[in-house]
Amino acid sequence: MKFFIDTADLAEIRDLAATGLVDGVTTNPSLIAKTGRNFLEVVREICAVVSGPVSAEVTASDVAGMLAEGRKLAEIAGNVAVKVPLTSAGLKVCRALRDQGIMVNVTLCFSAAQALLAAKAGATFVSPFVGRLDDVGSDGMALIGDILAIYRNYPKLETEVLVASIRHPIHVVEAAKLGAHVGTLPPNVLRQMFAHPLTEKGLAAFLADWAKTGQSILGEGKPKARAE
Ligand code: E4P
Repeated sequence: MKFFIDTADLAEIRDLAATGLVDGVTTNPSLIAKTGRNFLEVVREICAVVSGPVSAEVTASDVAGMLAEGRKLAEIAGNVAVKVPLTSAGLKVCRALRDQGIMVNVTLCFSAAQALLAAKAGATFVSPFVGRLDDVGSDGMALIGDILAIYRNYPKLETEVLVASIRHPIHVVEAAKLGAHVGTLPPNVLRQMFAHPLTEKGLAAFLADWAKTGQSILGEGKPKARAE
């Protein structure tokens, strides 16, 4: 499963990219607004830090406007994936950009029917929003299962399921169990995935016992005499 991070915060992206675990980045207009910075500059800088796909979303809602914006965003770097909404106009733009060889992430997907349309439009990624579905009493992860089951019936479909609106590590684990291709994780969720109290407790005990030996792996420390 590929891990993208869902943020436009360059400091977070640099920090997490250094782990070697980040395969791409997703942004949206709300995340860009949070930075208070120029959209095109932020996307350019993210693309210089992360070599995998970087999603940058159009803000026009008509076909001509979305196409013009999408082409401009794609010119920023070869790893830009243009994000378009799952509307009729968005899917026309998806097809046109894909025909030009530009990656497209079809976003705001909330049903299996929509995901099927996105795949037929040639989307590189489709982004179903699991957290927002959970928020309104639906089962976001059941949608991921349905989409994957449909796509598996048609092996020629190349669209990858990018699980979005992830709220906690269990969402990531459930998506991986279903075989989702990609998850886009808010930075705090990726950090939470490292943590387990037994890891911390176990490490503290190992280090305390190690200290008693007086040894240093890199140095010349001599083992202390064993207490009988
Ligand atoms: C995906 O690309 C979106 O940016 C994102 O996952 C939306 O998440 P939210 O529901 O937490 O805003």
